[in-house]
Amino acid sequence: MPDNVDLPAVNAWTQFGRLLKVVVGRADPTSCHLPVEPACQSEINDPYLAEQIPWPGGQVKHRKSTKLAEAQLQNFCHILESETVQVKSVREAAECGRLVEKRRTEALRSNTKENDARVFQKGRTRTLRTKSMDWSKPVAGPEWSSPSQYCATCPRDTMITLGNTILEATMSKRSRYFEHLACREICLDLWRQDPLRIKFWSAPKPSMSDEMYNPGFWAKTDEERFQSMRSYEFCVNEKEPIFDAADITRVGKDIFVQKSMTTNDSGIMWLKSHFPELRVHALHFPYDLYPSHIDCTFVPLRPPGKDREDGLVLINPERPPLRAELELWSQNGWKMLNAPMPATLDRPAFSQSSYWLSMNLLSLSPSTLVIEEAELPLYNLLSENGFDVITVPMRGMYEFGGAIHCCTWDLQRDDACTDYFP
Ligand code: ARG
Repeated sequence: MPDNVDLPAVNAWTQFGRLLKVVVGRADPTSCHLPVEPACQSEINDPYLAEQIPWPGGQVKHRKSTKLAEAQLQNFCHILESETVQVKSVREAAECGRLVEKRRTEALRSNTKENDARVFQKGRTRTLRTKSMDWSKPVAGPEWSSPSQYCATCPRDTMITLGNTILEATMSKRSRYFEHLACREICLDLWRQDPLRIKFWSAPKPSMSDEMYNPGFWAKTDEERFQSMRSYEFCVNEKEPIFDAADITRVGKDIFVQKSMTTNDSGIMWLKSHFPELRVHALHFPYDLYPSHIDCTFVPLRPPGKDREDGLVLINPERPPLRAELELWSQNGWKMLNAPMPATLDRPAFSQSSYWLSMNLLSLSPSTLVIEEAELPLYNLLSENGFDVITVPMRGMYEFGGAIHCCTWDLQRDDACTDYFP
């Protein structure tokens, strides 16, 4: 595929245009567990272990965890950088899943397709890494302090490219207030390459004071939360504009922003007022009682084709979107595709994400996707829908806040400000 030589060094309008340049996060040895704070009450999700020890906070002590996550990130970079990649056959994919867990193996066994392993010409994606930092240092502002930071495994959460603009999100957690600094050099370098075409912006940094948060939120039971489900009140209130970058998904001229624990209505309004060239839409997922980051919930895969073939969005069957908000999509030729259940429901004890990291995929183009290597049900669904599916191991990242999509930040895609909702 010839490179589009005219593209600015920063250019990403969609989630699915051909990916030319990307940032991949880093699992530093000083990576920390999310500390408990008003925006976050971390919990050990293994009930036996949770009885034995309190939430650890501070630096991740088990060095094997950070080493594994970093090895998987490096392997991913290598695959992104390669011109070609060996696509596994379904049988090989099943083999690799079998090594991991029993439940997963059961899902994989049901597969009977012929051996279709092949070398796939994917094209090179230039890959940059976030900078190493000491995450174990305490940080503070005038009205708050945090005993440690978090890590920069997930640049997706802090940074977003909107067209030719690099935007640092406000963030919602104190421990993540300075995380964007791991991307600062990349931003400055890109902006200096073409300062008249590329914008580099930071959204207003919130005070992170106690008044920004709803004090009663964490005291509610799930039942109470369920009752007030449609009021969409989460741990941040509306005092200041708040958004995490990962609550946004791009579809050309339109961007969609999830109201969540990490994004409030004022944050969505800030985006509207600062990006008048885009149409900014709010999305609500009433069944997600702890929503945060849209990439395990609603994932646009490809736009409607010229021959009237449907556009596709992968959606989370446990968190269906509001029906009224889907009309815009169905009227414009998009179809919702339910993600299959993950190959396993197990997660690492310290993971604060759900098992739906299974659908946290990265598009390399409208026809090529990268998914976690054990997710055979998803592999089959996407293959049946005409995608080339590349698999990589990424479960080491599950205790560091994300998976294949979270650990990246798109800098350049071969796409444009197309109107997919005319
Ligand atoms: N909160 C999501 C879930 O538990 C995980 C989102 C991860 N995404 C990210 N960009 N860090 O399903």
